[in-house]
Amino acid sequence: MTGPNPDTRYPLQPYQNLVFLKNFITRPNIVVGDYTYYDDFDNPANFEKNVLYHFDFVGDKLIIGKFCAIASDVKFVMNGANHETSPISTFPFAIFRNGWEKISEGVDIADKYPIKGDTTIGNDVWIGYNATIMPGVKIGNGAIIASKAVVTKDVPAYAIVGGNPAQVVRKRFDDEHIARLEKIAWWNWSAEKITANLLLINSGDIDALEKAAS
Ligand SMILES: CC(C)(COP(=O)(O)OP(=O)(O)OC[C@H]1O[C@@H](n2cnc3c(N)ncnc32)[C@H](O)[C@@H]1OP(=O)(O)O)[C@@H](O)C(=O)NCCC(=O)NCCS
Repeated sequence: MTGPNPDTRYPLQPYQNLVFLKNFITRPNIVVGDYTYYDDFDNPANFEKNVLYHFDFVGDKLIIGKFCAIASDVKFVMNGANHETSPISTFPFAIFRNGWEKISEGVDIADKYPIKGDTTIGNDVWIGYNATIMPGVKIGNGAIIASKAVVTKDVPAYAIVGGNPAQVVRKRFDDEHIARLEKIAWWNWSAEKITANLLLINSGDIDALEKAAS
């Protein structure tokens, strides 16, 4: 036995409020890795309702790694939410066309509003209840996002962040150990190797995990 099949839709049968998320993604601009799960008090199959202002014409992607745990009501605000902040008015005249697109003559409307890039979530990231991830944020491997955090800036690997705007509460390991963990990248091992080394992955013994990796 090497753990659940990542293609299983409801891995905690008969519990129906937790899903292996990749099996419920319909939008081409959302990519989710194996084993990442989403729990929802209502209906986890509706995860995409939490990916807000995500328009094809903007083209930004939400990329989530493997083995992430995403709690209910987590929101990803995408770039389609952005209005310009430098002009006198923030009202998005151009999208209503009928002559108003002229405010951005020669500029495609898709290029008119600020684009902060793709949102990327690493591997083994735990995102707590009701956290909000703002456009273009990159969250490193092994990070923890506290419940109700509003994440406006990139989060380093193995940092715990919380609050609004989210700040680093503490690092889970020192920098030297974090670099070694990122090199080990256990989340890329086969299911067989992960299963054989579960005790180590669930320990704090990075030396031993490193030996198992080699
Ligand atoms: C982030 C979290 C993991 C921290 O847990 P912890 O390591 O036990 O940390 P502590 O409770 O000791 O708190 C550490 C610090 O973070 C702060 N903190 C904890 N949770 C916070 C939150 N949600 N927002 C802002 N700050 C928070 C604490 O006030 C404390 O600050 P201090 O160092 O200034 O005193 C936990 O608070 C959390 O939010 N877990 C998510 C739970 C969840 O949503 N689960 C959903 C089901 S998967």
